[in-house]
Amino acid sequence: MKKYSITVAGGGSTFTPGIVLMLLENQKRFPIRQIKFYDNDKERQEIVAKACGIYLKEHAPEISFSYSTEPENAFTDIDFVLAHIRVGKYAMREKDEKIPMKYGVVGQETCGPGGLAYGMRSIGGVIEILDYMEKYSPNAWMLNYSNPAAIVAEATRRLRPNSRILNICDMPIDLEEKMAAMCGISSRKEMTVSYYGLNHFGWWSAIYDKDGNDLMPKIRAHVKENGFADALSETNQHVDESWRETFTKAKDVYALDPDTIPNTYLKYYLYPDYVVSHSNPDYTRANEVMDGREKQVFGACRSIIERGTSAGGGFEADVHASYIVDLACAIAENTRERFLLIVPNEGAIENFDRTAMVEIPCIVGSNGYEKICQGAIPQFQRGLMEQQVSVEKLTVEAWIEGSYQKMWQAITLSKTVPSAAVAKKILDEMIKANQGFWPELK
Ligand code: NAD
Ligand code: G6P
Ligand code: MN
Repeated sequence: MKKYSITVAGGGSTFTPGIVLMLLENQKRFPIRQIKFYDNDKERQEIVAKACGIYLKEHAPEISFSYSTEPENAFTDIDFVLAHIRVGKYAMREKDEKIPMKYGVVGQETCGPGGLAYGMRSIGGVIEILDYMEKYSPNAWMLNYSNPAAIVAEATRRLRPNSRILNICDMPIDLEEKMAAMCGISSRKEMTVSYYGLNHFGWWSAIYDKDGNDLMPKIRAHVKENGFADALSETNQHVDESWRETFTKAKDVYALDPDTIPNTYLKYYLYPDYVVSHSNPDYTRANEVMDGREKQVFGACRSIIERGTSAGGGFEADVHASYIVDLACAIAENTRERFLLIVPNEGAIENFDRTAMVEIPCIVGSNGYEKICQGAIPQFQRGLMEQQVSVEKLTVEAWIEGSYQKMWQAITLSKTVPSAAVAKKILDEMIKANQGFWPELK
């Protein structure tokens, strides 16, 4: 069996240790000879890398491990790049969330003006990594979690249409685990789903168990009463209070179309007034993550480094890690499993923009993916998606052309924003806050 070589881009990410753990768990079906980390923040990456280095030495001494901020070192002799960078880090996420809220608008990592601001920072960072990969390991695949995935995916479609990049999201995976639990099924992998939408903007239209039984009636009954709350699943991701609120709110999102099961992110578009009135403008999700996951992961890393051993634990893997490792394995070993991917529509959703990047099920093997057609979608979803995809396309055009006008249009068109006047105020403040990260807009 071939042994693979992997670079984790965004080596300093809070999700890196989980991915390392998951890679080791899967050694039998997806053997690895080398792991490298790449980040552009030397100090941050070093903490995660030193701890992971100790962990690897103790659990898999045969795997060679290194970390670097030099692209040539990091991307030479690689089969896969697993990418999860956050351009501007949590400091900028906090601004993405807080600036819109000053104007009474949803402040969120990937939705509304905050997500668009993040997109304007992320496009360049992700394209740069893709280019490094293609320069130093032209046959490699990049599996990309870096957000906002919808905008990043549209940018890679526009700017690098022939590149071997697959953009993915873990939200549907966690929700599918919860739906499996609602049905008393041990794993989402025993379900076959139909799903359509944009990233963080989609719906399940059918779900079957492995014998072909329709699971929708059971799932609908649960979501109608409780949303995704009270569905026990074993993941340790998405467990904070704010996530629990999102899982509960899904019942109100579901109420708009009881024929489908919605992605939780739709709450930001369908109930923005509720979201704003239930948010603390001085303490947003970025603050929660800095006080929670970041402290926990970096605390565990520092403790491993100080003690010189990973014995006693501290690292955890979750659905986030399992999904990207499963995807790498599907390509490496040609498993032809189904994955939700963010891919060019090209007719897979029959009555929707052919050039849109849509999130749909695909079959994945060593030659890439084949899309599974989702047919025609209802008017309600189509209307929402037409608006949102235009927001995403305008943002990418604004980045490519350096166009103030298009960025203003993008923010104005977001369903989370009440008027062009408010959009302009947010944009002008975002431009100042993002100096050095955004292209200059004229
Ligand atoms: P984090 O800030 O802990 O880690 C991101 C790392 O990226 C940092 O170490 C930072 O220095 C590095 N980085 C920033 N710009 C870079 C660049 N240009 N080149 C190389 N490295 C760079 O963030 P996190 O909370 O662990 O999240 C990481 C990313 O994963 C984010 O983009 C987040 O939105 C994304 N994410 C996506 C999904 C999904 O469903 N697609 C799920 C979870 C997380
Ligand atoms: C889900 C989404 C990701 C998003 C993450 C935020 O996993 O799919 O796209 O980045 O939530 O989680 P956080 O804990 O950082 O708020
Ligand atoms: Mn996501």
